[in-house]
Amino acid sequence: MRVAKEELRKLMKDKLHKAGLAEDQADVVSDVLVHADVRGIHSHGAMRVEYYAERIAKGGINLEPKVSFEKTGPSTAVFDGDNGVGHYMAKKAMEEAIQMAKENGIAVVGVRNISHSGALSYFVNQAADEKMIGISVCQSDPMVVPFGGAEPYYGTNPIAFSAPSSTGEKIIVDMATTVQAWGKVLHARSKNESIPNNWAVDEDGAPTTDPFKVKALLPIAGPKGYGLMMMVDILSGILLGLPYGNKVSSMYEDLTEYRKLGQLHIVINPEFFTNMEGFLQNITNTMTELNQIKPAPGFDQVLYPGQPNDIQQEEYEKNGIEIVDDIFEYLVSDVVHNNQYDNKDPFAK
Ligand code: NAI
Repeated sequence: MRVAKEELRKLMKDKLHKAGLAEDQADVVSDVLVHADVRGIHSHGAMRVEYYAERIAKGGINLEPKVSFEKTGPSTAVFDGDNGVGHYMAKKAMEEAIQMAKENGIAVVGVRNISHSGALSYFVNQAADEKMIGISVCQSDPMVVPFGGAEPYYGTNPIAFSAPSSTGEKIIVDMATTVQAWGKVLHARSKNESIPNNWAVDEDGAPTTDPFKVKALLPIAGPKGYGLMMMVDILSGILLGLPYGNKVSSMYEDLTEYRKLGQLHIVINPEFFTNMEGFLQNITNTMTELNQIKPAPGFDQVLYPGQPNDIQQEEYEKNGIEIVDDIFEYLVSDVVHNNQYDNKDPFAK
């Protein structure tokens, strides 16, 4: 069914607030979630609210966090979210990083002790809104086989990158380092659809098209994606003194425990490297040039990263966002949580 963006935002905010999250934090979380849904990233939008509400209600997110922000050098800082809600903490930390990059040209801000923060495009978009380059990486639940391995070790460890242009349009690369994000498997389950055979493996390590049989995900491009997910884990885990590799907490293991996740934001101010106007114009030029590349058979046009999401956003803003009926029914119901998630095998739900 279709739901207007503002209605969806309000439904999500109200549910999270009802679960116990302070109103200002619920406001930010729903903004990050609706950003995902309106850009067609349904794996990180409304479908997560029931899980977040259950974790909030069970104490697995600190509802009164004592946030600390420590500048450790001219361009470095550590933001400790005290295990508050990840979306809110990651947004605040990016605001600090942008301010630092305005002054010093570059900022590297580690975000320590947060819960799941959702679609990373939201945070790099904050940097692009301020005419800066944004990079963000974060840890996630160990559910990916390392290249050549038969057991999960790393998470789907996403990487996001943004670049502003002279027109206000932006390049936004935002991707899991797995062939697909785990949320895409959940989305296929919620719609009872099969998945392509290169996304994941079953309990024997064999490729599967049944989303309910998935036991581990596969890295993108074999050893290269494996290397990238390792890089993400080092930057947002080991570098910040947090649990790493297969010691990273699982989303569904114990909803009463804090997740202690890490994220790293890097903001680069183009002004410190080149002429700003020329930089913005050249980003516009590169976007245009890519759009003008001769398309391959089966393609209408070459798009730049983020453009398919911009196109989806335009349509959803006009006609309402496509939401799975069950998810909408949950959002409009009086129920906060259904004891759906606690102590579940991560691959069971
Ligand atoms: P995806 O596969 O949907 O898109 C990846 C990138 O490819 C995007 O930048 C997209 O704009 C671009 N793209 C897609 N089709 C294109 C085309 N035809 N031409 C040009 N560019 C194109 O993304 P994925 O890997 O499924 O990730 C989804 C979301 O999951 C992301 O927002 C990511 O941050 C989030 N995520 C969050 C995690 C967390 O723990 N917080 C863990 C893993 C993923």
